[in-house]
Amino acid sequence: MALLALTVNARAVELDVPHEASLLHVLRNDLALNGPKYGCGLGQCGACTVHVDGVAARACVVPAHGVAGRQVTTLEGLGDRRHWHPVQQAFEHAQAAQCGYCLNGMVMQAAALLAREPHPGEGRIRDELSGNLCRCGTHVEILRAVQAAALAQGDRPA
Ligand code: FES
Repeated sequence: MALLALTVNARAVELDVPHEASLLHVLRNDLALNGPKYGCGLGQCGACTVHVDGVAARACVVPAHGVAGRQVTTLEGLGDRRHWHPVQQAFEHAQAAQCGYCLNGMVMQAAALLAREPHPGEGRIRDELSGNLCRCGTHVEILRAVQAAALAQGDRPA
């Protein structure tokens, strides 16, 4: 065990963590942040996606101690029911979920994309989300939701 200090959803956190623990393990088991999901555990499905210093990362393969001192944002920190992030709002409006298991990853990956590229084309969105697996097949709704979020984001005051 070793002390780990980082910022999670704008809150400073310090906790004792095993040397080999993944960031996903710490978020879900120690901090009760269950937005990020455990899917493959191998960095291949995207269900566990979070932001580390604003960049999308697969929390299942990120060592918890590797993010010491960094800013981690989970789905819970992106927005809430009173202040949805445009991507969350667009996913809800588009009803872009079926079972919902992939949704955390889709939303977090899309939000990271729109933060660095506010107006991506359809091909760019497809590329960005190509590593996020959805077994239900709501890909068309997901694509439309990200496009709607990009438009809504453009409408927001700076
Ligand atoms: Fe992390 Fe699949 S659970 S990528």
